[in-house]
Amino acid sequence: MIQTFKNTTEIAEAIAKMLFILMNRPGVAPIHIALSGGNTPKEIFRYLNKTYGKRLAAKRFHFWWGDDRCVAPDNDDSNFKWANELWLGPIGISKENIHRVWGENIPEDEAIRYAKELKKFTEIDNGLPVIHLNLLGLGDDGHTASIFPNSMELLESDQWCAVATHPTSGQKRITLTGKVLNNSEQVVFIATGAGKAQMVKQVAVEQQPEFPASHIKPPSGEVLWLLDEAAASLL
Ligand code: 6PG
Repeated sequence: MIQTFKNTTEIAEAIAKMLFILMNRPGVAPIHIALSGGNTPKEIFRYLNKTYGKRLAAKRFHFWWGDDRCVAPDNDDSNFKWANELWLGPIGISKENIHRVWGENIPEDEAIRYAKELKKFTEIDNGLPVIHLNLLGLGDDGHTASIFPNSMELLESDQWCAVATHPTSGQKRITLTGKVLNNSEQVVFIATGAGKAQMVKQVAVEQQPEFPASHIKPPSGEVLWLLDEAAASLL
């Protein structure tokens, strides 16, 4: 399903509504939320902190990353750094509920460690960890998380987490693999700006197979696209 909004603020408001619904889900079982990286979510994190503050700091929320760069946690390239600085830290999410990728670790070791952390904390279904709300971005080249067009094999890998390499910068990253992403209860792609319009059309509508993001379709979950008008301008 595709929903179009005027701007990123309205997208952030839609995400807040999803978080409140998850927070109030009957029972007390942990809710696992995977955050995306890159620039798009930064404005969303700022909005959630400013508008809702600690009201979204549910003790049952556990935060993960769909991918992160193999850099120190205080590095400007770290997806954890921005989410923590702009949202999770200010609202007081406890450290035990923040499952960051240890970007400072040896990448191969970290892919194994992160998978073990998922196994320890999440419910396992279909032999895979269950992420309840998986926020994903869309790269200009059709990648998502850190599954790039030149590493399509990560869509079918039996590893839950893998070492990925950015095709142009060569930067090492840790990414959840396709089977884990497709075991999510709800995947929400967020794309904004005119620069994403063509790729949104090719992935969200045409599902062109050469792009990794086209293969993120949880068989028993849902895929929702939250777009601003610019990113939706070719639909
Ligand atoms: C990352 C991301 C990546 C990102 C897209 C969109 O670590 O870079 O997880 O998948 O979501 O590249 O990035 P922008 O929001 O910066 O366009």
